[in-house]
Amino acid sequence: MMSPVVVTGASGYVGSWLVMKLLRDGYAVRATVRDPTNVEKTKPLLDLPGADALLTIWKADLGQDGSFDKAVAGCTAVFHVATPMDFESKDPENEVIKPTINGVLSIMRSCKKAGTVKRVVFTSSAGTVDVKEHQQTEYDESSWSDVDFCRRVKMTGWMYFVSKTLAERAAWEFARENGIDFISIIPTLVVGPFITTTMPPSMVTALSFMTGNEAHYHIIKHAQLVHLDDLCAAHIYLLNRPEANGRYICSSHEATIHDLARMVRERHPWCGSIPEKFDGIEKDVRTVHFSSKRLLDLGFEFKYTVEEMFDEAIRSCVEKKLIPLPENGNVDAAAGAKDMVHGAEEHARIAMELEPKKKVK
Ligand SMILES: NC(=O)c1ccc[n+]([C@@H]2O[C@H](COP(=O)([O-])OP(=O)(O)OC[C@H]3O[C@@H](n4cnc5c(N)ncnc54)[C@H](OP(=O)(O)O)[C@@H]3O)[C@@H](O)[C@H]2O)c1
Repeated sequence: MMSPVVVTGASGYVGSWLVMKLLRDGYAVRATVRDPTNVEKTKPLLDLPGADALLTIWKADLGQDGSFDKAVAGCTAVFHVATPMDFESKDPENEVIKPTINGVLSIMRSCKKAGTVKRVVFTSSAGTVDVKEHQQTEYDESSWSDVDFCRRVKMTGWMYFVSKTLAERAAWEFARENGIDFISIIPTLVVGPFITTTMPPSMVTALSFMTGNEAHYHIIKHAQLVHLDDLCAAHIYLLNRPEANGRYICSSHEATIHDLARMVRERHPWCGSIPEKFDGIEKDVRTVHFSSKRLLDLGFEFKYTVEEMFDEAIRSCVEKKLIPLPENGNVDAAAGAKDMVHGAEEHARIAMELEPKKKVK
């Protein structure tokens, strides 16, 4: 068996899918969650194929220094995925910004103490790159968001952009000063199927034009997107490329909110009325490019289309009753994804073949 790897935020949208892929690849995984007794969050992990032999669940909180020491001790790699995602927080400095920065530093200190960790892969965010007063038409890894601008304008999600930007910068400094092999992966909006039981935060944004959540429209005015499965594959790919270094944007497609709304309207007519106009968003809004050149130059290949991202995301939402079923109750017709071979369907198929037992640390 390979030495264990840690996944923080393992009960979340990205973390749980990453755990699933790692188990499938034969990794022993230490999954950290804040509350291992929360069955709604841990059951999807414990039910994963291979979980009985390879998965252990560990309690750890970004807000408590040293909380990750035990989970990290003896591991060869850490995927730091966890982050507070509360856009509605009443106390953003203490509930979002401080735990994100202190949390990554606490994990880096745990890695230093452990002395066994060969690489830390940090899940950063496009919000560390493009949130600035003067928009560019193209971004690469050299760009950083303007934290003062975020704090001044307080756009939807500002505390998240500030928290991720300051956390990634702090982690780079710590890594340089302490000789830790650190890589950051910068996903744009992640869309695709999911194994969590609640609505993932990025689905709230991606499907905002279906649910009428106007506060999120401007986030996808010009959206850059990546399929969840591609993103998790990129995490594992970067762990295993010794020559990898620095920041890696992970983004496969661009579209405007008008393109996305049109696509979903055409593929899922059962959804009802999806707007054709969005207040404050020009009809001819242009796409903005996030370059994944560094990742592609390393040999990584994206597998999924935008249609697959949304079909599979909608399918998961319908199956979990997070958006209303179509009137005829036909999930396949609703998802428009009968031929899906990836993601949730495959997971369900493998899950039926294996019967995992529960293991909690
Ligand atoms: N989804 C996207 O579109 C997207 C795009 C760019 C970047 N990202 C990045 O991807 C990562 C995962 O995001 P996600 O979409 O999977 O969000 P998510 O579903 O909300 O998952 C976040 C996870 O972080 C954990 N967490 C929150 N506060 C914590 C704390 N104080 N201590 C320990 N764990 C804590 C949560 O764990 P509990 O179960 O304990 O609550 C949850 O499992 C984040 O780093 C995010 O910045 C996501």
